[in-house]
Amino acid sequence: MYARTVSATAAALLGVTALLLPGSATQAAAPATPAWSNDGPAVIAHRGASAYAPENTLAAIDLADRMGFAWVENDVQRTKDGELVVVHDDSLARTTNVEQLFPGRSPWKIKDFTAAEIATLDAGSWFGSDFAGARVPTLKQYVNRVERNHQKLLLEIKKPELYPGIEKDTLRVLGREGWLNRHHVKHKLVIQSFGADSVKAVHAQRPDITTGFLGTPAVADLPKYAAFTDQINPTHTSLTADYVAAVHKLKGAHGKQLKVNTWTVNTTAAAVRVHDFGVDGIITNNPDVVRDAVGR
Ligand code: G3P
Ligand code: CA
Repeated sequence: MYARTVSATAAALLGVTALLLPGSATQAAAPATPAWSNDGPAVIAHRGASAYAPENTLAAIDLADRMGFAWVENDVQRTKDGELVVVHDDSLARTTNVEQLFPGRSPWKIKDFTAAEIATLDAGSWFGSDFAGARVPTLKQYVNRVERNHQKLLLEIKKPELYPGIEKDTLRVLGREGWLNRHHVKHKLVIQSFGADSVKAVHAQRPDITTGFLGTPAVADLPKYAAFTDQINPTHTSLTADYVAAVHKLKGAHGKQLKVNTWTVNTTAAAVRVHDFGVDGIITNNPDVVRDAVGR
């Protein structure tokens, strides 16, 4: 297990660095764009430290914290009764024991289960017996744990086309849990999605929030995206140095340089490659590998 090999010194240094990350503000009613590093790419634990703990569980963000990583990424979807939960797939089958507990409910879509039903599921045993009993977190539980850990959140609205109005629901939960005050918006929160309309909706409803678009739009289309987002977040296999440079030439929705966070970078070679391109953030299941590769 990774945790035994973590350098406490490196972890402490990373924490200090995170506290010093700069913010900025240019738009009326927009106090700042959130913290992003100017001294090398941020390392973002994808679904938590998901190479070492079951993805999108509290255990995965706790482990990322113990490894010294400030930023975690997650995936938000909505239950049948309107609760927001943190799961990647739109079905519960791969990452829980839903097939055992609810055998007649194929294909086990999140939108067909109540929050109470989902709360009974084991979201850890599929990954390893050490994690038996881990639960599917609600977004409320998740952000409260991120807060307790003094971490920061790259929140993905997953498959927004399945959940009309999920942007408003997400902002409601974040607001109730204290995540939309000036401090959180400035330093601790980015909301991203593969759905351009979803990113636009977040930007329209809360223009102060930093947003990211997941994908690799054509260079000619980047100015249109820059009108409503602050980050272009492409898969690393699609990335080139020229593309990063083209993004960086533009200013995003808050008047600051448009940023690039790339995913899912899990090897030293891939991390070195995208670091050389000058990306701003690297989203990874193996944050220790990336940290070692890019010298953070
Ligand atoms: O944050 C980027 C990445 O999570 C997007 O892909 O499928 O892992 O949610 P996916
Ligand atoms: Ca994701």
